[in-house]
Amino acid sequence: MLKQVLISTAGFLFATAVSLSPAMAGGEAEVLHWWTSGGEAAALKVLKDDFAGNGGTWKDMPVAGGGGDAAMQTLKARVVAGDPPTAAQIKGPSIQEWDDEGVVGPPYHVDAVAKAQNWDSLLSAQVANHMKCDGFTKYCAAPVNIHRIDWFWANKKVLDAHGLTMPTSWDEFNAAASKLQAAGIIPLAHGSQPWQDATVFEAVALGVGGNEFYQKAIVELNMDALSGATMVKVFDQMRTLQGFTDEGAPGRDWNVATGMVMEGKAAFQIMGDWAKGEFTNAGLKPGIDYYCLPTPSDHGYLYNVDSFIFYSMDGKSKIEGQKLLGSLMMGKNFQKVFNLYKGSIPARLDVPMDEFDMCAKGSAADLNYSAMTGGLQPSFAHGMALRLAQKGAIQDVVTEHFNSNMSSHEATRRLAQAVKASL
Ligand code: GAL
Repeated sequence: MLKQVLISTAGFLFATAVSLSPAMAGGEAEVLHWWTSGGEAAALKVLKDDFAGNGGTWKDMPVAGGGGDAAMQTLKARVVAGDPPTAAQIKGPSIQEWDDEGVVGPPYHVDAVAKAQNWDSLLSAQVANHMKCDGFTKYCAAPVNIHRIDWFWANKKVLDAHGLTMPTSWDEFNAAASKLQAAGIIPLAHGSQPWQDATVFEAVALGVGGNEFYQKAIVELNMDALSGATMVKVFDQMRTLQGFTDEGAPGRDWNVATGMVMEGKAAFQIMGDWAKGEFTNAGLKPGIDYYCLPTPSDHGYLYNVDSFIFYSMDGKSKIEGQKLLGSLMMGKNFQKVFNLYKGSIPARLDVPMDEFDMCAKGSAADLNYSAMTGGLQPSFAHGMALRLAQKGAIQDVVTEHFNSNMSSHEATRRLAQAVKASL
């Protein structure tokens, strides 16, 4: 009891100290995000600590739910009510979609920071453009990383025990998975939530269909590609994968699925490299405890840039908070340390990779190669390729197919129909 009183008194004193301290000079920021898993929270702490260390006052606004679908609902409600958070984790074309609503600027306060720090010279043009508003002329968001989506994660002990190596074709994966299943191991750890089904789907679409197919069908929404024979094959492979999941898959969180791989209950997971953040958080090492390898494709690479948008704000303290956040997020050391925890690689081009592990080094090298050879494609499942209506249309059909016995032909027909209706 006494202990409790002391703690809450200390809490009160601390809160008072914070609100009166000159620390306010760094500004304040309410930050909406969905980084609530162990690895995600460890990475976010780097930013929180940096912000506090520079005199900022952080108000945390976590909305749990991998992939951010729930966070986007909360965000929408806040913005529509005229009360946007100071900064919000969003990405891709949604940034420009919000700008079109007139709630981001002008003025775009963070653009001044970006100009002063010359962000144009620190980022690739592709990443920089994702961060810009006002007809792609002014920075209104800051990037913290580049995640790759198309990865296999696997338990090394399980694979070794069954004489298996990492699969380099989908057929090889199917054969390995069948063997494991016959031995009583769950081949594929999965959580069948719409965004996770979509995550697997895009890796399969890139691999089975190829780079050009992915670009046509998923990025350009070309009706022939969406409704053709290749899409049927993609859904066939999705059905095969579904057969490798366990009964507990529906609704399971992604990090719980990663945990199944860590414990050796399951062999593989197909997930973006935030899964590596979980392995890292558990003290596990690639090549020793687990394997990472891109899912099979022709040097494809599905990218996903986490970023924070800065809405139009009144009040000096909030504007200062936005500027400080933007400036810290693009800091060279921050981009290194944050990404070591997060599983991703820096968005800044000049961060040395020597402290990163083999998965991250591979990701950085592949990104450059894919960018030169047409394989670098935006992730639709993580909001980098399409506006929300089109993303939702594809995701709904993918998850409906995965969680029913719908035929591949029927799914393909519905996919084209749903995209058409969303345009
Ligand atoms: C992604 C996001 C990652 C990770 C993941 C799971 O959309 O880019 O940073 O958090 O969702 O929550």
